[in-house]
Amino acid sequence: MIHQLVYYSRNVVQGNDRAMLTNLRDIVSASQRNNSRDGITGFLIFDKTWFIQILAGEQAQVSATYTRIARDPRHATATIMDARNVQSRSFPNWTMGGAMRTPEVEEVYLQHGIGSAIEPTRLKSAHVINLALDLQAFDAAKRQAQRLAS
Ligand SMILES: Cc1cc2nc3c(=O)[nH]c(=O)nc-3n(C[C@H](O)[C@H](O)[C@H](O)COP(=O)(O)O)c2cc1C
Repeated sequence: MIHQLVYYSRNVVQGNDRAMLTNLRDIVSASQRNNSRDGITGFLIFDKTWFIQILAGEQAQVSATYTRIARDPRHATATIMDARNVQSRSFPNWTMGGAMRTPEVEEVYLQHGIGSAIEPTRLKSAHVINLALDLQAFDAAKRQAQRLAS
């Protein structure tokens, strides 16, 4: 059985898009290092106001990881949306994928009925996972196009 936890939190890091991307890179690199050690996979959706993250793995490891993350001063008021056992991992190949909301990915948000600011308190965890899967697919398609062009 895989345990899956979805939470959101307020992004309290100040700065422009560039500062946010640097921040995201730091978070994702620490996440990839720790999560590969701990058998955690997942995805991080991110804009100027919110983080929404999906964590999956063994229950004890998911809890320990979430407890560590929730103490991180780069965000505040982490709130669990959903925590449950699931049959399989939604992001089996990602120790932690990340997607910042940029104009480029706006079409993916629109496909999910999110035209303006994201409002995590109104989202269901299943919706978050589908959005994250489509953001991941968008990124994979972009990378493939770049590979073909080079
Ligand atoms: C929004 C957010 C998501 C994070 N996600 C993870 C994660 O999935 N795994 C992880 O180990 N650390 C994550 N972190 C970083 C942790 O809070 C913490 O800085 C890190 O685990 C410390 O790792 P270290 O002791 O190896 O430096 C996240 C931080 C933030 C702000």
